[in-house]
Amino acid sequence: MKRLAILGSTGSIGQSTLDVVRAHPDRLRIVGLAAGTNADRLRDQAIEFKPSVIAMATDAGLHAVASAFRADRAVSGPAGLIAVATHPDVDIVICASSGTAGLEAVLAAIDAGKTIALANKEVLVMAGSLVTAAARARGVAILPVDSEHNAVHQCLHGRQNSEIARIILTASGGPFRELPAAALANVKPEDALRHPTWRMGRKITIDSATLMNKGLEVIEAHWLFDLPADKIDVVIHPQSVVHSMVELLDGSILAQLGGADMKLPIQYACSYPERWVAPVSRLDLTAIGRLDFQRPDLQRFPCLRLAYRALEAGPSHAVVLNAANEVAVASYLDEKISFVSIPRIIEQAMDAHSGEAVNTLDEVRALDAWARDYSQKLARELELKV
Ligand SMILES: NC(=O)c1ccc[n+]([C@@H]2O[C@H](COP(=O)([O-])OP(=O)(O)OC[C@H]3O[C@@H](n4cnc5c(N)ncnc54)[C@H](OP(=O)(O)O)[C@@H]3O)[C@@H](O)[C@H]2O)c1
Repeated sequence: MKRLAILGSTGSIGQSTLDVVRAHPDRLRIVGLAAGTNADRLRDQAIEFKPSVIAMATDAGLHAVASAFRADRAVSGPAGLIAVATHPDVDIVICASSGTAGLEAVLAAIDAGKTIALANKEVLVMAGSLVTAAARARGVAILPVDSEHNAVHQCLHGRQNSEIARIILTASGGPFRELPAAALANVKPEDALRHPTWRMGRKITIDSATLMNKGLEVIEAHWLFDLPADKIDVVIHPQSVVHSMVELLDGSILAQLGGADMKLPIQYACSYPERWVAPVSRLDLTAIGRLDFQRPDLQRFPCLRLAYRALEAGPSHAVVLNAANEVAVASYLDEKISFVSIPRIIEQAMDAHSGEAVNTLDEVRALDAWARDYSQKLARELELKV
């Protein structure tokens, strides 16, 4: 029996994780659930899975849940995420909260010796050096849940890093893959939120439309697989069937294929190194018929270029990229700025930063705060302008 804590249980990844737990009641048990503001959903989950510890971002939300379900421990605010992530009975922490709120909890879970199943890529983009160094020092595994990195992890099973020529991350290309550059200025959030192949949370869906999601994944891959930027490639693959590939020194390319269903990578992170029957539909390659691959267009989708720039420039630049992106995406979702203003804000924030040490959590948080503040000002200047 593996015992799980889920940070972000009410979100898209969190709910898929609970589907996996429902499919394996004899192998997986929920010990802790943490959510942001969706008290109704957390209450229903708590009544069904009976966790020992629950957490919500706000006191009001926590009271609403606690009045319907009595857990051994109920904690609000940032301390709640840490309490869930470090509960003594937990074996695996599923890190699936959005944004960077989960960083301290991930570090605390590593310190407590928990296995980390990481969906929350922003944590590695913001503090990859701190998180991977802590995991190495504590001997803790970070298992990727992101489907691309999970695919690479599956392909690499048992291989040395020295055998890798490059990894190839696939990207669907998002809803605007074929839209002319001129039309991008007018795309509305409701269009950007219509992802062609995946159903996900709002922030990652916008990141997929700008290709920043792939950029964040390039940085995530750097930290997870200890590879430089020039060994991490991206190809557009509209069918989202090949989840990613590894090219070995001899030119062989290994790929992992599957349906667009996060339950498979989530389950693999839970079952690893075993394989279990998964609650997902099987792939019918004859029904799919063809698989296409194209180069990404960095002119129309500059966010991917900016992510490579941040990775090559050093860890503090990735902190700025990530913070500016979160601010810009939130402003776009609020319909305050246009779609094409997102990369403008990120690029201007990066231009204003010349690089600094981010060796401690305090240094990371301070730079993150500066970048958010700076980007907010940029977003206000760009409001209602294209
Ligand atoms: N969805 C996917 O298919 C997918 C694939 C790969 C990677 N990821 C990554 O996984 C993460 C989650 O994505 P998602 O699509 O599941 O997002 P989502 O649907 O927006 O869910 C986010 C979750 O985080 C919780 N949360 C937000 N702020 C919190 C806080 N301060 N304290 C505690 N919980 C908080 C939310 O709670 P409330 O809803 O209760 O406010 C919700 O449960 C992201 O980093 C994303 O990049 C997602």
